[in-house]
Amino acid sequence: MADTFDVAVIGGGPGGYTAAIRAAQLGFKTACIDDWTREGGKPAPGGTCTNVGCIPSKALLQSSENFEQARHAFASHGIEINDLAINVSTMLARKNKVVNQNNDGILYLFKKNKITFLHGRGSFAGKDGTGWKIDVDGSAATQITARHAIIATGSKPRALPSVAVDNDRILDNEGALEIPDVPKRLGVVGAGVIGLEMGSVWRRLGADVTILEALPAFLGIADEAIAKEALKAFKKQGLDIRTGVNITRVTVNNDSVDVEYNDGANAAAKVTFDRLIVSIGRVPYTAGLNAQSIGLALDSRGFIVVDEQCKTNLPNVWAIGDVVRGPMLAHKAEDEGVAVAERIAGQHGHVDFNTTPWVIYTWPEIAWVGRNEQQLKAAGIDYRSGTFPFSANGRARAMGDTTGFVKMLADAKTDRILGMHVIGPFASELIAEGVVAMEFGASSEDIARICHAHPSLSEATREAALGVDRRTLNF
Ligand code: FAD
Ligand code: NAI
Repeated sequence: MADTFDVAVIGGGPGGYTAAIRAAQLGFKTACIDDWTREGGKPAPGGTCTNVGCIPSKALLQSSENFEQARHAFASHGIEINDLAINVSTMLARKNKVVNQNNDGILYLFKKNKITFLHGRGSFAGKDGTGWKIDVDGSAATQITARHAIIATGSKPRALPSVAVDNDRILDNEGALEIPDVPKRLGVVGAGVIGLEMGSVWRRLGADVTILEALPAFLGIADEAIAKEALKAFKKQGLDIRTGVNITRVTVNNDSVDVEYNDGANAAAKVTFDRLIVSIGRVPYTAGLNAQSIGLALDSRGFIVVDEQCKTNLPNVWAIGDVVRGPMLAHKAEDEGVAVAERIAGQHGHVDFNTTPWVIYTWPEIAWVGRNEQQLKAAGIDYRSGTFPFSANGRARAMGDTTGFVKMLADAKTDRILGMHVIGPFASELIAEGVVAMEFGASSEDIARICHAHPSLSEATREAALGVDRRTLNF
C-alpha cells in the first residue's frame, strides 16, 4: 500500500526543503522528493541554489576576490607576494566541497526533522479519497499519497534562440561554474545578475570579459544612481559592458565562438571569444510533473498560476519559489515555503515582496530593498532622499574599500522608509537593517537616532538616514 503523508513537497531546493522542514516542525507527516544527483548517484538536495546557483557562485566569488585582493590590494598593506598564481582546479574542488557540505547539511536536516526524503522524480498520478497520488521514479521507485502537495520544482536557464548550450564553448550557469582554466577572452550574453557575478569571477582571475546586454540601459532593475555608480566601478575594473546589443548570429568553431551583433547605433559588429556564457534569465520548470493530466493551470510563460497565498487552481496543491510569479530568489522561495506550511496548519504565513532584499555579489556589492527613485517618481509619491558615501566612512577607509554609497528614501510627509539602496563593501549584510526597518514601519528618523557601532560600515546607513533630514554629521 502507498505510504500516506500529510504533506508531500516536490522539489528539494531552498523553497522545497524549507517548506518540508516547517511542515514537519508543525507536526505534519512530511515527504520531500528531489531528483538532483551528484557523483556516484548520491542525492544532492538543495536545488539550483545549492548545486549550481547561490552557493557555488559565492564560493567562486570569494576565491576570485581573494586572488584579486592578493594581486592588487595587498601591496598597499605592505604584504608582498611573489609568484602569485591561481590554481583553477583547486578552486573548483573547494567550490564542490562547499556544495557537498550543503547537500549533506540538508540531508541531516531531513533526518533531524523526521522528513521522508525520496530521491527521484515526482509526478502526479491523480487523486483518490486520501489525497494526491504521486509517483516517484529512481532507485527507490514508489507511489505515495499526500493530503497536501507543494510544488517547488524551480527554474532552468533561458536559452538564446538557436544557440545550443554544450557547456564547453557555450555555457549556461552550470558551465560557467566549471570552466577548467581561465579563458583569455570570455563573452557573456546578458548583463543581469549572473552575467555580472560570473563575469566578475573570471575577470578577476585574468580573463578579458565582454558583456553584451540587449537593453539600452545598464542594470535597469536597480536605482539609477546605483546602476550608474556600478557601471563606473565595473568599467574601471576592466569589464567591457556593451548595451543596446542585438545578437544576430553565434557561430561555434573548434576552439572559439564568434558573436555577431548590431550595436546600440545599429552598426554591425563581430567579436570572437574562447567561451561564451549565456545568462539571459530563467524560465519556470514543470517538465515531468505530469501537470496537464491533473489540470494544473500554467500561465502563457509556463509559471504555475497561484494566488497571493501560493494556492494553485487545484485543491490542496500549492506552488512556491521560482516556478511561480515573483522574484527568482532563494530567500523568496524559502519564505513562501514557510508561509505555505503555516497556511496548511491554519496559520497566517506572510510574504511581502516589497521587503524582499536583492543582492548582487559583485565587488562592490549591490543591494536594495523597497522602491527606488524611478519607481517612486512613477508612482507620484513625494519622497526625501539621503545619501552617504563610503569615502567618508572610517571603517571603509581602513578596509581600503571606499567605492559606493548608501541611499535612504523616505516618505516626505510621514518619514516612513520606502527604500534603501547600497553599493559598496558588504552591501549584502548592510541591507538587513533596511529590511528590518521597513518590516517594522520605521522612519528614517528612527535609524538616525539608533546607536551604530564605530567604526562600522553600518554608520553609513545611519548617516544616509540623517541625510534625509539634511543633517548628516560626517560629510
Ligand atoms: P530550485 O532551487 O530550482 O530547486 C528545484 C528542485 O526541484 C531541483 O533540485 C530540481 O532538480 C527539483 N525538481 C524539479 N522537478 C522535479 C520533479 N518533478 N521531481 C523531483 N524533483 C524535481 N538567489 C539568491 O537569492 N541569491 C543568490 O546569490 C543567487 N545566486 C544564484 C546564482 C546562479 C548562478 C543562479 C542560476 C541562481 C541564483 N539564485 C540566487 C537564484 C536561486 O538559485 C533560485 O531563486 C532558487 O534556487 C529557487 O529555489 P526553488 O526551490 O524554487 O527551486
Ligand atoms: P537576469 O534577468 O538577472 O538578467 C538577464 C539579462 O539578460 C537582462 O539584463 C536582460 O535584459 C538580458 N537579455 C535578455 N535577452 C537578451 C539577449 N537576447 N541578448 C542580450 N541580453 C539579453 O537573469 P540572469 O542573470 O540569467 O539570472 C537569472 C535569475 O537568477 C536572476 O534574475 C535572479 O533572480 C537569479 N539570480 C540571483 C542572484 C542573486 O540574488 N545574487 C545571482 C544570480 C542569479
